[in-house]
Amino acid sequence: MALPQVAVVVGSNRRDSINRKYAQALVKLGAGKFDAKFTRIDDLPLFNQDNEGNLPAEVVRFKDEISRADGVLIVTPEHNRSMPTVLKNAIDWGARPFGKSVWPGKPGFITGTSGGAIGTALAQQHLRSVMTGLGMTLLGGEAYITNKPNLIDDQGNIGDETTQKFLQGFVDRFAGLVAKLKV
Ligand SMILES: Cc1cc2nc3c(=O)[nH]c(=O)nc-3n(C[C@H](O)[C@H](O)[C@H](O)COP(=O)(O)O)c2cc1C
Repeated sequence: MALPQVAVVVGSNRRDSINRKYAQALVKLGAGKFDAKFTRIDDLPLFNQDNEGNLPAEVVRFKDEISRADGVLIVTPEHNRSMPTVLKNAIDWGARPFGKSVWPGKPGFITGTSGGAIGTALAQQHLRSVMTGLGMTLLGGEAYITNKPNLIDDQGNIGDETTQKFLQGFVDRFAGLVAKLKV
């Protein structure tokens, strides 16, 4: 049987994004449980409601990739105690026009890493509020990850064994949720 398909959305458009590396390590933890495809958001134009009736090609592609996915993994940094603009922009496009949102019923796992001690907790709280409002079915629990030097090792894996076990638990539960809700 085909593995569930997971769309990975990274809330950073920075070339050397630590959240992208972290997302890639999470995808490795999901090997054999789901197939992952990174979905671009850095090429989406700034949201403008005037264009809802005639969506730009990049937005059509983004919405199509999310629609076809069985689940969405969102890995985000924290910008000024909330989610980065580039991520909110993608979420808004995905939700519009009214009645054509790609988010309702989609299982999601939200996590992220930053250098701060609270490891994106406030960004994730805002994001949870937004995505719950949009009807996503979010994985419970809190995966706030402080970015320490060995968070990701030279092979692209989670470097620290305790953190790796902690995150494996989330990835396994997410894989289970996605498989359960797969239509
Ligand atoms: C505009 C801006 C605001 C930021 N605000 C926060 C913040 O509120 N909390 C935090 O922990 N880090 C904050 N940071 C630091 C980011 O967490 C850090 O740049 C991190 O590397 C971003 O992840 P990335 O490498 O995936 O882009 C901010 C960075 C920028 C550029």
